[in-house]
Amino acid sequence: MAIVTPTPSVIPGPRAFPLLGWRASILKLYRDPFRYLRWLHDTYGDIASLAQGNPSYVCAFGPKLNFFLLSNPDLFEVSAGPFEKLPKNTALVRVGANSLQLMKGEKHRLQRRLMQPAFHRQQVTRYLDEMATLTLRMLDSWQRRPQINLHREMELLTRSIVVKTLFGFDDEAEIDRVGTLLERMVSSLVPAMIAPINVPGAPYARTLRMAEQLETELHVMVARKRSQPDANDLLTVLIQAADEDGTKLSDEELVSHVFTLFSAGHATTSVALTWTIFLLGQHPRVWADLLDELQGTLHGNPPTIENLRHLRLLDSVIKESLRLLPPGSIGQRNATAACELEGYALPKGSTVIYSEFVTHRLPELYTEPDCFKPERWATLNRTVYEYLPFSAGQHRCIGAEYAIQEAKVALAILLQRYRLEVVPNTRIELDLAMRPKHGMPMRVFLQDREIQHVPVRGAIHHLVTLAG
Ligand code: HEM
Repeated sequence: MAIVTPTPSVIPGPRAFPLLGWRASILKLYRDPFRYLRWLHDTYGDIASLAQGNPSYVCAFGPKLNFFLLSNPDLFEVSAGPFEKLPKNTALVRVGANSLQLMKGEKHRLQRRLMQPAFHRQQVTRYLDEMATLTLRMLDSWQRRPQINLHREMELLTRSIVVKTLFGFDDEAEIDRVGTLLERMVSSLVPAMIAPINVPGAPYARTLRMAEQLETELHVMVARKRSQPDANDLLTVLIQAADEDGTKLSDEELVSHVFTLFSAGHATTSVALTWTIFLLGQHPRVWADLLDELQGTLHGNPPTIENLRHLRLLDSVIKESLRLLPPGSIGQRNATAACELEGYALPKGSTVIYSEFVTHRLPELYTEPDCFKPERWATLNRTVYEYLPFSAGQHRCIGAEYAIQEAKVALAILLQRYRLEVVPNTRIELDLAMRPKHGMPMRVFLQDREIQHVPVRGAIHHLVTLAG
């Protein structure tokens, strides 16, 4: 526990603009997030305020501070952010704000314990065939398409996989319909939160109606699942999970967890898949080695669980992609009491920002940190505070195992069947969620091993050294 001794030291950081204060830094963070984070770290060190001397928003960089922040959840807790200011009795708050990610203290511990059985390794392996079938369905649809937006395709794939494994639908149209509904709800959240005014036609009002429709649908599904106790989907496992004292998840909790799992699970994995394929295309030698491993082991077939254990290079490629371009690249916690951070006094309510991205680029942890070098993982071991694409501590991603299995299955099948080539000179920029801002146009070829490096433009060059 940190010692509460206010000290007079001034937290270093960029000089604040009159009136704007730390808001100027937030704007820069939105405009060019990763360069700005690195600049803050390079210029001011492991602790940097977004406005010099102001403890409202403070960045804490590196493994030691990751540990301090993430292993101390009672002092540094998650915040429900804009949800906290909304009227409580709406479907939007019931569905969106009761998510595991935003829960605190004992409530979080209990809910997480109840959800855990759905993510045990043994349970996750049961989804392998569904992951493979949906990947094959997507790849069939590429047969007559010379060009695709890879990022959108990966979104649709991970969307259908999460919906299928959550609800166990067999009907493709049903998977797509529910996937569309959930996706529309997720993408309407940010515009709604900017101005939460309930007047007809406003984004917030539309989101409220959407949340009501979704809540009703999800309750119907929970009721349906309760009457099918032999099913093997995620929702059924969640319904049946009980604590030692018999506590179970209520319908309201189940509805909100389903929404959380969808929103936390599909966008992140689609970003990871997109960057992994992009990075392979920029490193033809790695792709060729990986193809040797895949074809040598699988001979064109989808992988089994046993196969996945032996695909070492595939494992290292995914690890390295999540190191360089982690979809969860930045996080924040709020101080619940006045405390001290490396000698600087923080008042209660300060927001502390940490960054997986900055940690993964520290040269003392990773030699040539901007280079894509999957081979480093053959000998490298890092602690959970040094390598943390899934964060660490009590809120560490509950779906990490699921996500890695999904990525391995999709890549093993896709890379054997197709060669994807980014459209030459595409401009590649990234937003704060690590998504390619303008998509990822790729040409589609049957796998012919003619892998060659294709030049691209844009901010990606500030983040990754691309092989020429
Ligand atoms: C490559 C894919 C993924 C990445 C990089 C990722 C990353 C993360 C990160 C960084 C956090 C921690 C956020 C924080 O500490 O504030 C998190 C939490 C979470 N993730 Fe993932 N995630 C991925 C896939 C998934 C999948 C597939 C699911 C579910 C199907 C999932 C469900 C969750 C949930 C429920 C939480 C909240 C855990 C808690 O607060 O106790 N994630 N994820």
